[in-house]
Amino acid sequence: MRSQELRELIEESLRRFIDFDSGCPTRLREAIEYSLLAPGKRLRPQLVLFAAEACGGDIEEALPAAAAVEMVHAYSLVHDDLPAMDDDDLRRGRPTCHIQFDEATAILVGDALLARAFEVLATKIRVGDRAARCCAVLAEAAGASQLVGGQADDLNGRVREKSLERLESIHRRKTGALFLASLRLGAIVAEATTEQATALDEYGQCLGLAFQIVDDLLDVSGSEKQVGKRLGKDAERDKTTYPLVLGEEASRERAEALIDQACEAVAFFGEKADSLRELALFVRRRNN
Ligand code: IPE
Ligand code: IPE
Ligand code: MG
Ligand code: MG
Ligand code: MG
Repeated sequence: MRSQELRELIEESLRRFIDFDSGCPTRLREAIEYSLLAPGKRLRPQLVLFAAEACGGDIEEALPAAAAVEMVHAYSLVHDDLPAMDDDDLRRGRPTCHIQFDEATAILVGDALLARAFEVLATKIRVGDRAARCCAVLAEAAGASQLVGGQADDLNGRVREKSLERLESIHRRKTGALFLASLRLGAIVAEATTEQATALDEYGQCLGLAFQIVDDLLDVSGSEKQVGKRLGKDAERDKTTYPLVLGEEASRERAEALIDQACEAVAFFGEKADSLRELALFVRRRNN
């Protein structure tokens, strides 16, 4: 299945899975749609589907997990942009949720998306214990030791603590964890073998870290119009980033080495991992 077709399947699932009943107030519903359906790259849902495909699984069956991970991602962006966090006014080329609506609504949008993600996993993945395993994987990745913990340390890292080890740990948690979870969800749905799951894990860990290194680089040298968010904010807010700690050149080299490692990790899948390789190469050269 080609990428345009896949993108449409993902968009359609996202819309379908936020069909809240009349208990959801209109303004909240609009804000949820505004944030979730905005033009994001949809990399995490694609990873779920590509991982399932690499393991010989069915893409349709993986769609609920793909939508769930994008919901957690969208929630994390809405909260990341709040004044109490990164205080940003542009996301996916549009005003951030709290600018377009208001802060309370943005907080509630995040709450609603996080809850819905788990509802979708629990109710739409029907076979055996897969739903419970998917919930456990996503909850761990989104939780206090991973995404949320990474975000907390990211916000408290303004003392310019130039330890590479600490920086890598923050990036692996705040961003890498959700990439890794995406691969793991695809593996669970497709009933991957241990060998397949191990390879996907290594791919996910390398790709997730590389992705955030490139995000740091784009903040320094990207184009605001292409990226669709304000740039130069990391330095302004005294964030510990790869370009700050390693310099731009070495950061780029590190990202490239990680992408190579990611591709090597999935080599034994042969052409079944073509989409995973393509996505990794996209991350290497991305400008948005
Ligand atoms: C942005 O992620 C947040 C980070 C983890 C750096 P993406 O660059 O994948 O955001 P969208 O989904 O395409 O907007
Ligand atoms: C975001 O990191 C990580 C999460 C949202 C969990 P950033 O703060 O660097 O992401 P952008 O640059 O705002 O997209
Ligand atoms: Mg942030
Ligand atoms: Mg941010
Ligand atoms: Mg950033």
